[in-house]
Amino acid sequence: MRTLSGIQPSGKLHLGNYFGSILPNFELSMKAEQSFFFIADLHALTTVNDPASLREARSDIILDYLACGFDPEKSVMYYQSHVPEHTELLWILSTVCPMGLLERAVSYKDKVQKGITASVGLFTYPVLMAADILLYDATTVPVGRDQKQHVEIARDLALKFNHHYGETLVVPEPLIRDEVAVVPGTDGQKMSKSYGNTIPLFGDEKMIKKAILGIVTDSKGVEEPKDPDTCTVYNIHKLFLSATEAKALADKYRAGGLGYGDAKKMLFEVYMDYFGAMRTKRTVLEKKQDEVREVIRKGAEKASRVASATMQKVRKAVGLM
Ligand code: ADP
Ligand code: TRP
Repeated sequence: MRTLSGIQPSGKLHLGNYFGSILPNFELSMKAEQSFFFIADLHALTTVNDPASLREARSDIILDYLACGFDPEKSVMYYQSHVPEHTELLWILSTVCPMGLLERAVSYKDKVQKGITASVGLFTYPVLMAADILLYDATTVPVGRDQKQHVEIARDLALKFNHHYGETLVVPEPLIRDEVAVVPGTDGQKMSKSYGNTIPLFGDEKMIKKAILGIVTDSKGVEEPKDPDTCTVYNIHKLFLSATEAKALADKYRAGGLGYGDAKKMLFEVYMDYFGAMRTKRTVLEKKQDEVREVIRKGAEKASRVASATMQKVRKAVGLM
């Protein structure tokens, strides 16, 4: 198994990203023979047009991932823009990509509806994503439901290319994390930076405390029995617990005597306990920017070796060599 995943550098990481994406990707990368992990900075240009924000988001996210335990010795970590083969393959794939395939892409329509400029780049976003995947012969691409169609487009393009030019590209499979629950935000709906209901992973402890104390609950008094299943504080807390611990906590909610204020304080402690070491690691890494730059440089070097070998095959197949 060769896994590959990418993340756009847009905004601060939150608890939903951690349990929905970072942790499962990290666990999968441990099982893979080889894994690639990159920051999709070229994709980000379709929505971020302020250079300073892009620069900051890009280096922030690499620190976040290193702090969360990604090991650059085990998983190749790089910036997409440092490997120019991504854009070369984008072009070649776009010549075998039927317009209709992109016209059916729902994420393009969604983004335009949300007010994002309908640029050519936004439209061909899935072809760049296909290039990201196909350059590395990835067999398995772990993604959330929203990205499944994009991986299917990558499959279609690999099949089309191979059909026309002969077996060249590995056909990837999406790995949908159905088992990963949607992490609720402080208002009970899905945690998302676009809803302003996130609990951040890093940054100021006071902000984290404020977010946790601000989780919306019903108005039951301390002594009243509470329903853990409909309580956002519980539903977030249980992410940190084993099944037995979660059951014991649910029993406490049902028994009455546990006020929401205390339940939130317990959650804050568990949160800081769980992320404490990662938060410290991030603070240390922030002061070692040279080391981080070296991780990125080495990552690009390793990624380039694989990408250039694939491009040689592709160039030969289409007649450019
Ligand atoms: P946001 O919704 O904050 O914009 P992104 O769309 O950038 O987050 O998500 C990045 C990754 O984190 C995706 O793989 C997505 O599935 C995962 N993710 C984001 N929010 C949640 C959540 N509330 N629960 C589970 N996974 C999430
Ligand atoms: N489009 C993905 C997202 O927004 C990010 C991404 C870009 C990606 N290229 C990829 C994910 C290749 C997996 C594989 O989440």
